[in-house]
Amino acid sequence: MDIVEQKKQVGKYAASLVEDKMTVGLGTGSTVKFFVDALAERVKNEGLDIIGVTTSNRTAEQATSLGIKIVDLDAVENIDLTIDGADRVNQQLDGIKGGGAALLFEKIVAINSKQNIWIVDETKLADPLGGFPLPVEVVTYGVGHLIELFAKADLHPVLRKDAAGETVVTDNGNYIIDLHLDQIENPVELADWLAQQVGVIEHGLFINIANHVIVAGEEIKVLDRK
Ligand code: 5RP
Repeated sequence: MDIVEQKKQVGKYAASLVEDKMTVGLGTGSTVKFFVDALAERVKNEGLDIIGVTTSNRTAEQATSLGIKIVDLDAVENIDLTIDGADRVNQQLDGIKGGGAALLFEKIVAINSKQNIWIVDETKLADPLGGFPLPVEVVTYGVGHLIELFAKADLHPVLRKDAAGETVVTDNGNYIIDLHLDQIENPVELADWLAQQVGVIEHGLFINIANHVIVAGEEIKVLDRK
């Protein structure tokens, strides 16, 4: 099964887990896009009655255009279930997220959710975490100094640019610095250090957040947090 088929498969599977009257957190990314498509089909064909809270302008536009009702996070007490993608996941179900630059809202939505499920293809499993740049969302002011600080700490920082060579600006008006690390042996220690640096708004290490990870493949695997 190729990667696109895998993404479709887990997206559809995740949509089948959503129940009537749920408030659903909608993640961001190419895998979640298939989930939102499948969820919208259920809303249209089965009359599934849900409300969505989104993690990016992209997902909000897609969901709204497909007829899913979207509300602001502050309009709900909490979220029943959030379905999101991930860039890397280890055996503890901790992960790297933010490849799509939506990590800040993804983390805010996740911590306000009773259940978090990530949907991934097989290429995302990595223990130790690594093989994908770790995104860090930072304020634009003084970004050069933060890059120097990360470089001194041997974190191999690169300011994220788009295909046209323009600096990527997040939905919240911030920049992303990607840390090109081969392996992250101690994600908790690195997460703590990053969180302490002035100018860092959020980092893409999602520790202790996913309850379950659904992995695509010939047979779908559901991994549970122990
Ligand atoms: C966006 C994310 C995505 O969930 C992550 O990048 C996975 O995306 P994809 O499903 O396209 O591989 O964290 O900020």
